[in-house]
Amino acid sequence: MSGQPASRPAEGPQVEARLVEARLEPGTVALVGGGPGAWDLITVRGLTLLRQADVVVADRLGPRSLLDELADDVEVIDVGKRPGAHPLSQEAIGALLVRLAQDGRRVVRLKGGDPFVLGRGGEEVLACRAAGIDVMVVPGVTSALAGPAAGDVPVTQRGTAVAVHIVNAHGDLGPADLAALADPGTTTVLMMGVGWLPRLVAQALLNGISPATPVAVVQEATLPTQRTVRGTLADIEQVVADAGIGHPAVIVVGRTAADGFLHPEELAAAADVPAHGAGREALAEGAEIAEGLTADGLPAPAAPGTAPVLIGCSHGTRSREGRDVLRALLTRIAAQAPGPVREAFVDVQAPDVRAVVAAHAELAEMRTREAETVQAVVVPLLLSVGYHVKDDIGGAVAGRAATAAGPLGPDPRLAEVMAQRLDEAGLRDGDAVVMAGSGTRDPEGVAQVEEMARLLSARLGREATVGFAYAATPSVPAAVAAAREGLPKGGRVVVASYVLAPGHFHDLVSGAGADVVAAPLGDHELVAEIALERYEAALGA
Ligand SMILES: C[S@@+](CC[C@H](N)C(=O)[O-])C[C@H]1O[C@@H](n2cnc3c(N)ncnc32)[C@H](O)[C@@H]1O
Repeated sequence: MSGQPASRPAEGPQVEARLVEARLEPGTVALVGGGPGAWDLITVRGLTLLRQADVVVADRLGPRSLLDELADDVEVIDVGKRPGAHPLSQEAIGALLVRLAQDGRRVVRLKGGDPFVLGRGGEEVLACRAAGIDVMVVPGVTSALAGPAAGDVPVTQRGTAVAVHIVNAHGDLGPADLAALADPGTTTVLMMGVGWLPRLVAQALLNGISPATPVAVVQEATLPTQRTVRGTLADIEQVVADAGIGHPAVIVVGRTAADGFLHPEELAAAADVPAHGAGREALAEGAEIAEGLTADGLPAPAAPGTAPVLIGCSHGTRSREGRDVLRALLTRIAAQAPGPVREAFVDVQAPDVRAVVAAHAELAEMRTREAETVQAVVVPLLLSVGYHVKDDIGGAVAGRAATAAGPLGPDPRLAEVMAQRLDEAGLRDGDAVVMAGSGTRDPEGVAQVEEMARLLSARLGREATVGFAYAATPSVPAAVAAAREGLPKGGRVVVASYVLAPGHFHDLVSGAGADVVAAPLGDHELVAEIALERYEAALGA
């Protein structure tokens, strides 16, 4: 019942009399970090306040079993996400806390882990303060650290790891996250990432993190159902899939996550620790997690006989699906390339092509830039020349032991891929076809797209006219309207999307008034084949 002090459970830890107990006043809110899940990993203060609450607003994660111990008159409001039940929005949770406190109740907002570690606790504090409600924050044992510990992974270890990087991995990794993964002295904890593991692994590998980097995944840490699996970046996706590991889980990447790390008889890790030095100075030598870099993070000269790195350079996209398609394509290319493969972008996404080339190719005098001195080849995952190929990529390789390959198009194999996409979209006899490219101001690029339309026409045995989403004419809407004019009544206009992946340009193409829009070229073996050919051609092979 609201407004009434909760009775205490008959049993429980007794706080020593000499200690002053925290007090939860009516009309106030306590944001309590409940710890990773085990009931006895909540702090004494958190438990003390919980036992004074007359209403508890609870998450799905955290010490749920403590809710069963509450007195019968304590109201529990569940705001956690669970399958089939719609969670309250963050705004609604804030409004709920305010309303309960304004009703004069003692409110505990019980959160998993620590309220301020990827817990949106700050937003709840702000909501209370904005309404003039007193709010106190009780730190909790975060699963970011307790998860690894429970899985037998020390996130720091003298001589092996001196820093911990915790990141919300529900999405792409950023440059600082990739730098942490590349640093042999840092342990990286990926939160909320288990469903994203394949993407995280692909991105890490395409950014040069060694496939041999140890990874541990700890599910439902500190609960009786806890499970831990171990592997490396190369195999962890399979290990996790085979074991059926799912949410909630923390992913720990770094040398201390290695199988047997805390079993000295297996790894003898303790023997590696230098006798002198502190922090980074005490890091054991010879520990490189990033491939192809020296200890200073500079490009390592390629070993004799090693194929130059292939840098696949795409136009970045904000589309999640588009990013997946581009990484899948690059992973396919990597499986067949003679040397290492890295990702790079000319817009929107990091890492920028200039930075990637600089990381892999030394500054070079023009006169030394013969084929055998080339350390990196940028293969544009772009369909025609234009500003990005000539200026961005051209600028990135200028003055470095690097070279740029030609764009993917025009090429008859791209006509084959488009024909397949049109088939999949249900192209019929009698449909008019418009091939829609992204567009460029460069006349050479426009000519390449027009050439591609001729190749597509030849492949389809019917004319494919051209439209551009941007810069060049005719625009896609104009091309679609013109194609419609020549059609018999009821005839359809079908667009072949001459872009690589879903994203802004494909959206523009889709909104141009056609009856059917085929999917972009996407992750296709023929596209990978062309990219690899462009790489070889750039090396004069
Ligand atoms: C929204 S975040 C909340 C983090 C929380 N504030 C903390 O400090 O632990 C949820 C993520 O925490 C991690 N997590 C929470 N409890 C966990 C547990 N018992 N075992 C493993 N991971 C856990 C998972 O990565 C999960 O996706």
